[in-house]
Amino acid sequence: MSPATNPTPDSGADVPGADVATPSETDPATGPSTDNVFELQHVAKHFGAVVALSDVNLRLGRGEVLGLLGDNGAGKSTLVKALCGFHRPDSGRILLDGELIALRSVDHARSLGIDIVYQDLALVNQLSVYHNMFLNREPVRLRLLRNRTMRRLADEHLKSMGISNIGDVGVEVAKLSGGQRQAIAVARAVFSDSKVLLLDEPLAAMGAKEGALILDLIQDLRAKGRVSIIVIAHNYGQILEVCDRVNVLQHGRITFDKPASSTSLTELTDLMVTEYRKARKQQNLEAG
Ligand SMILES: Nc1ncnc2c1ncn2[C@@H]1O[C@H](COP(=O)(O)OP(=O)(O)OP(=O)(O)O)[C@@H](O)[C@H]1O
Ligand SMILES: [Mg+2]
Repeated sequence: MSPATNPTPDSGADVPGADVATPSETDPATGPSTDNVFELQHVAKHFGAVVALSDVNLRLGRGEVLGLLGDNGAGKSTLVKALCGFHRPDSGRILLDGELIALRSVDHARSLGIDIVYQDLALVNQLSVYHNMFLNREPVRLRLLRNRTMRRLADEHLKSMGISNIGDVGVEVAKLSGGQRQAIAVARAVFSDSKVLLLDEPLAAMGAKEGALILDLIQDLRAKGRVSIIVIAHNYGQILEVCDRVNVLQHGRITFDKPASSTSLTELTDLMVTEYRKARKQQNLEAG
């Protein structure tokens, strides 16, 4: 994980040859389902010759916390970026609340209540903590940014979440540690009151205490049941602790889907180790 700048999102222009179903093509047989917030059907995405997602079928239940696991490069970030309007899938269907949607941009997705904490964070280092908390949703009065209000609300919100080691919310984000930045990014997403939260490795740069804080926060949100969450992490123990269900992404597909209560650290670890050994054997065979 590095707090590097993000690549630019896919442009609003249609991908040549794209086969993404548009809302006008809603399949009446599918019908609106109230159980799932998100449903992905046969979603594919490639970057030049790299196939990041080949045929993803996934669902996110209402109020559910879904853990998404997979090797480095398995396509996890690409998947959540397709759900937040950052990437446009090449093909497949995305249903939100049972309705087919084509997410045009991150702002479009945000207007529908979908918010993301990127793995590479997307905080603006030169701005203060409180400006980052309100990025793209600044309260404005008489066309002036309400700095004092933002500062007070950001401070209150961080404290209410138990994030107490930031100090002055007027400090530039560039001056914070990686873990502190991560906490701000998660706090910002939670603050947005979204109905879907996509958390791409929110614990990666965290110390034990901050990590526990974020896990508690996810637990609290889960208990309230108002928000549905996809959380990506490499620590299977943490995933099992906070998630209702676990999916594993391998070779651009979801290959494992179980309630967290029906799987175990051993099963998940075995799955990944088997995968690694298989890939290594294949590499050795190819190398002759
Ligand atoms: N913007 C991009 N341009 C070109 N290739 C990309 C881009 N984003 C991702 N990829 C490629 O797509 C594949 C999937 O990447 P992705 O970042 O989704 O993996 P990941 O599962 O999130 O991995 P990690 O656990 O390391 O974060 C990789 O091979 C990666 O190199
Ligand atoms: Mg990633």
